[in-house]
Amino acid sequence: MSVSYGKLVIVGAGKVGSAVLNSVLRMNIIDDIVMINRHREKALGEVLDASHTTAFAYSSNASIRVGDYSDCRDAHIIVITAGPSIQPGNHDRNTLLKKNVEVMDEVMKQITTYTKEAIIIMISNPLDVLTYYLQRKYDYPAGRIMGTGTLLDTARFNKMLGDLCGVDAKNVVGFVLGEHGSTSFIPWNTVNIVGVPFDDLAREFGLKAPIDKEALLSETKSIGPHIVDLKGYTSSGVSLAACRIIGAIVRNEHCIVPVSAVMQGKYGYDDVAMSLPCILSKAGIDRIIELPLDAQGMHDLRVSHDHLRELIEMI
Ligand code: LAC
Repeated sequence: MSVSYGKLVIVGAGKVGSAVLNSVLRMNIIDDIVMINRHREKALGEVLDASHTTAFAYSSNASIRVGDYSDCRDAHIIVITAGPSIQPGNHDRNTLLKKNVEVMDEVMKQITTYTKEAIIIMISNPLDVLTYYLQRKYDYPAGRIMGTGTLLDTARFNKMLGDLCGVDAKNVVGFVLGEHGSTSFIPWNTVNIVGVPFDDLAREFGLKAPIDKEALLSETKSIGPHIVDLKGYTSSGVSLAACRIIGAIVRNEHCIVPVSAVMQGKYGYDDVAMSLPCILSKAGIDRIIELPLDAQGMHDLRVSHDHLRELIEMI
């Protein structure tokens, strides 16, 4: 069956699935939103609750409904949020590996019964390992499976650096790359604000020089688990990261954002998925871009790669 452009399936009706549902609804770019959940009543509650928002906020006449995996048959995009997430006090997403491999196998067996055309956006953690595992095990087209990955970390970093310099986060050019986790890294030689390179930002914006790179990177990595300690989970940032990807696909933007993708030989690696700058279009990942990394960046990339390989070999 051909793809119905504008049809989105959300797998998982937890806090992240609910945030994705309510955020994507406000974008007015999806015609048919279907939520799937192991416990159907939970999905029904989320769908009914979200449907009432359209009485207050303009929304295209999107159909919002509970469905089942057969709805994946003609889905354009499938967002996977199922499975447990890290809890307060546990800051290591990789502790979810064993359980979420089981959950993802259950989900992916169902999805691939109906489609290998849909573009899959993984949110469940450990995101990079699961993205790679599913692409390989289910022989899913590599350009049509990705994860929110360090797009979320990049947003956090851009917000922090923007606040430090007193400028909008959207004016910060700078990606967090690699694992969505402890080995993520920032290629500092590529970071700038309107072309002012990172090392000149302190002078340009009247800050105490030098800006502490390690502190910025450390806070970027730890803020997610810190929010989990504070509110019990994260949902707002990651759901908007997913919506940024959904918008890029539905609008066929050909924009460049860091998403977790199977590397397909980039930098000489093809045996992991990790976040690199990718061109996104209605077909999914058009191209993975090899950012010009300096020696430190290449070292950090290898550290992330090797760490992810260790985790993959544990499955
Ligand atoms: C976070 C979760 C989504 O960093 O990994 O908020």
